[in-house]
Amino acid sequence: VTVGGFNFQLNLSNPKLVEELKIKRSDFPSDFMFGAATSAAQSEGSAKEGGRGPSGWDHRMETLPEGSLSGGINQEGIDHYNSLIDELIKNGITPFVTIYHFDMPLALEEKYGGLLNRSFVNDFKDYSELLFKKFGDRVKHWFTINEPNILAQYGYELGISPPGRCSLPSTLCALGSPVKCFETVGPCKFGGNSSTEPYVAAHNIILAHATVVKLYKEKYQEQQKGEVGIVLASQYFLPYTQSEEDKAAAGRLFDFYLGWFMGPLVFGDYPQSMKERVKDRLPTFSAEEKVLLNGSLGLVGINYYTSTYAKHKAPPPGEALRYSFDQWAETIAIQDEEILGVTNSHWPEGLQRLLEYVKDKYQNPKLYISENGLSDHKDNDSPLEVLLEDPYRISFVTRHLYRINKAIKNGVNVKGYFCWALFDDIEWGMGFNRVGIYFVDFSNYTRYPKLSVKWFRAFLQG
Ligand code: NOJ
Repeated sequence: VTVGGFNFQLNLSNPKLVEELKIKRSDFPSDFMFGAATSAAQSEGSAKEGGRGPSGWDHRMETLPEGSLSGGINQEGIDHYNSLIDELIKNGITPFVTIYHFDMPLALEEKYGGLLNRSFVNDFKDYSELLFKKFGDRVKHWFTINEPNILAQYGYELGISPPGRCSLPSTLCALGSPVKCFETVGPCKFGGNSSTEPYVAAHNIILAHATVVKLYKEKYQEQQKGEVGIVLASQYFLPYTQSEEDKAAAGRLFDFYLGWFMGPLVFGDYPQSMKERVKDRLPTFSAEEKVLLNGSLGLVGINYYTSTYAKHKAPPPGEALRYSFDQWAETIAIQDEEILGVTNSHWPEGLQRLLEYVKDKYQNPKLYISENGLSDHKDNDSPLEVLLEDPYRISFVTRHLYRINKAIKNGVNVKGYFCWALFDDIEWGMGFNRVGIYFVDFSNYTRYPKLSVKWFRAFLQG
């Protein structure tokens, strides 16, 4: 089959798939942006070089056991990113920068408890301002914080990401997830409170985001003419049955994932369903903060990987309150058998539905698909040419592009698509992950284009 002018082998027994694979670059608006995403901690390496201070993840991965706040600007770091940005631009690549992608400086964690402390808002503002000053002449697209719901839940309810706080056994650990937990089943050694801390961390994130957007608008926008937004992880939640209970469960899951942040940033407050269930464990915004929140959303990056069914589920009687139980819902994987050769639960149509949901519910914000991708599952000892063959990734990306295109035709304001990831990288808590469109030989860090890179190039030229 020829896709985007590039020939490759696919099993085309499914007519729907054949239709979707016809999507072309020219089907998208000419200013629609295509790209590939990475995060610093997952793909840069050099954890101990260039004056870089350790993050909670370095500590977790035990590469850097000690941390300290340098108390100044690390010029070597600034120089590094200056040259990276220059090089991107020289090669016709527009940088989109995420200011904070899971790598909270360990020093701030130790100094005042990181996200749990309101001081984070000011430190994050100072840090963001430094980046605007140093790079804002060339960087015009900023995302403040990546996946705050994951930060809050994994770091403060489940205790499986830094800072590893929780007060209850983590369900993920108990279910035998491959995630390597800070602790095995049982309360985390770092203490914590699973019923309140996820909400406190998210509250400070929301205020930090809004503060930085205000700062940019007031001091930098006129001169730099860029835009600032946030990256949110979501799925589409499909009611498991048509019962009113399951429909309400889907609505609650949307609220606890997306509405947790979109509510305050678009409407100035948390969703009603959260207020009703979390009650006084949910922090409140003062009148002044509500003014700050007003109009502070900016562009929104959506990280989309999968969708799930939503089913009503009351928490087990006598269970302690916690973020997961507050939702009164369980999720069940949606299987999509049509992604070639890989067993998974990806559902491209869910992306279209999600985009349309966001448009209708949150005043049609400007959106980017900031992450979307899948991993290879091959025997690493296979010959290189076999490891570089990823027709399923081409099918995966194409089918999601087809759905984005439909959403655009239905009025969704989505302006770009970045696949995850540019390179094979390190997945948090799990180790090397062959998720890139470029293959990385981890013994010497040589990069090789997979088939999907060749396809992407041909698609963009087609
Ligand atoms: C979302 C996160 O932002 C990214 O860091 C992670 O690697 C991918 N999802 C894949 O899990």
